[in-house]
Amino acid sequence: MQVLALVSTAIGSGKTTLAAHLATQAYRCDVGPVALIDADPSGSLTSWREVRNEPGPVLVEVERADIGAALASLKDESSGLVVLDTASAPDPSIETIIGFADLVAIPVRPGQYDLKAAGATVEMLERFGRRFVFVVNGGSPSADITAESVMALSQHGTVAPAIVPASSEFALRMSKGETVFESDPQGLLSEEIGRLWDFLAQRLSTAPAIAPADRDKAAVKEPRRFPRWDFDQPATLIAGDRRFPCTVNDISAGGALVYGDELPQIGETVAVEISHVGRLNAEVVHHSTSRVGLKFVIGAQQQWTLVRYLSDMIEASRRAYVAAP
Ligand SMILES: Nc1ncnc2c1ncn2[C@@H]1O[C@H](COP(=O)(O)OP(=O)(O)OP(=O)(O)O)[C@@H](O)[C@H]1O
Ligand SMILES: [Mg+2]
Repeated sequence: MQVLALVSTAIGSGKTTLAAHLATQAYRCDVGPVALIDADPSGSLTSWREVRNEPGPVLVEVERADIGAALASLKDESSGLVVLDTASAPDPSIETIIGFADLVAIPVRPGQYDLKAAGATVEMLERFGRRFVFVVNGGSPSADITAESVMALSQHGTVAPAIVPASSEFALRMSKGETVFESDPQGLLSEEIGRLWDFLAQRLSTAPAIAPADRDKAAVKEPRRFPRWDFDQPATLIAGDRRFPCTVNDISAGGALVYGDELPQIGETVAVEISHVGRLNAEVVHHSTSRVGLKFVIGAQQQWTLVRYLSDMIEASRRAYVAAP
């Protein structure tokens, strides 16, 4: 069995809600047996499962002191998933769980308080060299605070390309032992949780792209740079009334490297037009024969659209790579 843990020191970030929903979605997707472990002494996930009448993941009742032994034996099972809900307060069981986790999801509410708590959680995970993904919970893609949170988080790790929307429906369903899948299986909430699960399932099924040690080295060298992706797509650079056909060689949420026969000069303000992405304002920050470096001059909202588009593209190409014979 694979182990997915919901961890965050931020109170009310959505660990229990997402543990219940992700385990239910994994169950619906037939990943094999799905178990839930409630490692939070408040027992809210246990209460949810106890009032639930629908089929779904099985609650495995374990004393917190015995979680290590329970996870060791569950990991020996050849298929299926264990989802763990953890406490916000410091507890020795969290370190044990992290030690066994194949992937840790960190729910983050948009806003400064949760972002600070996310930093503390990341430090703990990095000590253990664990893979983690931030999950923005209770956000709205059109709100600046969500976009800003995504941009801030993306400098510290992968942000899941699905935002769980803010909705009182979550509290209502959870109080009845249900999920949004029972109330509105085709609705926006179900769709976003479905997207989130697909992304986490993909992460669970692939080896980490970069070894933790290398990632640490990269972080020390360039702590605030956005990840850069090979892109190789045709585009047009626009400077005043001049248009330059070009190729975007690589791109990040902060800038791009562009090739072309004729290109604008260093210091010029330009716009780069890329199909599916749109028009991004930028400044030419370096220039050499047949290529220019661009620094984007765009707001958080446009950066988030770009990050989301690029993450989707990377995931699609990974899936194609994994599916190839
Ligand atoms: N996407 C959302 N939109 C609106 N409300 C939400 C959302 N996710 C969770 N909530 C609500 O926020 C509150 C806290 O959520 P939850 O209990 O899942 O967080 P938690 O991290 O497990 O909290 P704790 O730290 O207390 O264990 C609950 O009332 C829940 O219904
Ligand atoms: Mg909880």
